[in-house]
Amino acid sequence: MKPLIVSGIKPSGILHIGNYLGMIKQAVDLQNSDKYSYFYFIADLHSLTTKYDPKEKSKEVMEAAIDLLSAGIDPKKSALFVQSHILEHANLAWIFNTITSMGQLERMVEYKEKVADGQTPNAGLFDYPVLMAADILIYKAQKVPVGEDQRQHLELARDIARSFNKRFGKTFPEPAGVYTKALRVMSLSDPKKKMSKTAPAGCLYLSDSPKKIKEKINTAVTDSHKEVGYDPENRPGISNLINIYAEFSGTSPEAAVKQFKGASYKEFKAAVGELVALKLQDTQERKANLEKDKKEVLRILENGAETARPIAKKTLEEVKSRVGLI
Ligand code: TYM
Repeated sequence: MKPLIVSGIKPSGILHIGNYLGMIKQAVDLQNSDKYSYFYFIADLHSLTTKYDPKEKSKEVMEAAIDLLSAGIDPKKSALFVQSHILEHANLAWIFNTITSMGQLERMVEYKEKVADGQTPNAGLFDYPVLMAADILIYKAQKVPVGEDQRQHLELARDIARSFNKRFGKTFPEPAGVYTKALRVMSLSDPKKKMSKTAPAGCLYLSDSPKKIKEKINTAVTDSHKEVGYDPENRPGISNLINIYAEFSGTSPEAAVKQFKGASYKEFKAAVGELVALKLQDTQERKANLEKDKKEVLRILENGAETARPIAKKTLEEVKSRVGLI
């Protein structure tokens, strides 16, 4: 068995370019090397920790699967499955709960931000990072492609692996995060905040039409400077657009700034809009085709689960025996 690369995405609304640049694009690039096996899953259990409509959930799961496949996750190279179809994730999370302190979870910034945003936290939201650690460690994953916003959660997964190994004997590797250069993609309407499914106004969705993409980028909040310049701290809006341009065109922010030296914001924004619309064109065409063939999508998800399940079962058996369960 090759070492594993594992990552997940929540089905809670349409995917945006933050999800794409933070995780999906990396996952798509990584799957071309045959040094690893690749497991990508739809984190439906995680998505139950914030408000949702049960009537919409199954649609959202399918939509996330279609988005991942159309963005380039290739079922011949990567197993794609639904988290709740592998019961072992939640089972391992329970065991990890017993070696994770309240203090460790109370330090999690994402949790604190959600509470500060006015969400009434349920126990699942508090425990979210423990389930995430279980998602990763149930496959003894070595690498985890995620956006910068998940760094703290990944650190916790490493801590949990270390605590478990120390107490029960070496069982888990410490998984390493694989982060993009773009780090956080920020909201187009409030560039001090990350682009997030929970704040739709600032999102650029993978399914937005070329016209919509250009419109949204044209009206993205920037600043009163005249020339394109990169300074994420003091000029977050324009720097965010530079990051987006650099990531989609495969250059660095510095190269992008050079390329647009002397250009007005209006000219630069038009170029960003053109580029993003063009880059998402193939994804959108594939999406339209997959939407007509949901049976095929379900078949891919079943196949993915069949690939992942035996590995998850094996790890859980090992863990149960290590902690002394019969
Ligand atoms: P989710 O669905 O919130 O995000 C999915 C991926 O998109 C990245 N991302 C971003 N990257 C850059 N800029 C942004 N504005 C932005 N918004 C989202 C996230 O970092 C993530 O990589 N907790 C995970 C889901 C998960 C998971 C796991 C990931 C559950 N179990 C195990 C890895 C391993 C999450 O944030 O999903």
